[in-house]
Amino acid sequence: MRKVAFNNMIEPIRRNLKFRLSKDNADDWNPAGVPFTQFMNALSIFFPAGERFFIESIRNYRDQIEDEQLKKDIHQFIGQEAMHTREHMVYNQALIDAGFPVDTYMNRVEKLLKVVQKTTPKHVQLAVTMALEHLTASLGEVLLKEPAIMEGSEENFKNVWSWHAMEEIEHKGVAFDVWTSVMPQTPYSYFVRVTIHVIAQVIFWSLVIPFHINLVRKSTKDVGIKDWYKCHQYLWTKPGALRKIMLELVQYFRPGFHPWQNDNRYLFENIEKFAEQANNNYEKQAA
Ligand SMILES: [Fe+2]
Ligand SMILES: [Fe+2]
Repeated sequence: MRKVAFNNMIEPIRRNLKFRLSKDNADDWNPAGVPFTQFMNALSIFFPAGERFFIESIRNYRDQIEDEQLKKDIHQFIGQEAMHTREHMVYNQALIDAGFPVDTYMNRVEKLLKVVQKTTPKHVQLAVTMALEHLTASLGEVLLKEPAIMEGSEENFKNVWSWHAMEEIEHKGVAFDVWTSVMPQTPYSYFVRVTIHVIAQVIFWSLVIPFHINLVRKSTKDVGIKDWYKCHQYLWTKPGALRKIMLELVQYFRPGFHPWQNDNRYLFENIEKFAEQANNNYEKQAA
């Protein structure tokens, strides 16, 4: 069994957090306006089915893992992703209740991932998870490094994204460590890893874009050119979230790549305090 190079660096922890996400501000919870808010909402559509897929693809290999620390990490990874799935169901339900056809879009994602599960070998499914986990960790990093993106947002939507971003970083090495544990490091495994990375990103973004545009079109709020400009700024120029993650996505092609070569643990150093506050908020808002 190959030694897991970066294991033991971080042990993810499952945190059972809940957020009260209301349909009333579901399409304009970010002060940048409807287009940027709906961009984030379009990402949320993917999480319930996507994260169930991640869990399954790692479960497929759980019995082959001998490293005790990695076994624990897998257990916590599954716990974290299950909590994310649950809260993004709440999030997506708020969008459905607000009149957006998010259930139809979620079904589309689910069907696509079922096809992947039925038609591809297990190591390809693990490679899909690994590639998309790199994407979610990269998105999480930019969200936390650029607080201006969430500044002034409705508190609960801001918090659900902050929590998810922190935990995506916290468990970013798990799928990769499973891969290096079960796949011999050969030119073939490198080829699968990078090819699936390209295919997964192309398919993912080719779904995000129409979902995003349709969600904006279906908004009952006024959307002007200024709002689109602001969305463009946030994504491509200032702070340019997508431009910034491009650099991270390119890193993935390096033969010796590992997610923890980018040591950004500081981005979730206050997570326990954050979790306590989130729990308090949830209780307080019930009263
Ligand atoms: Fe997640
Ligand atoms: Fe994840």
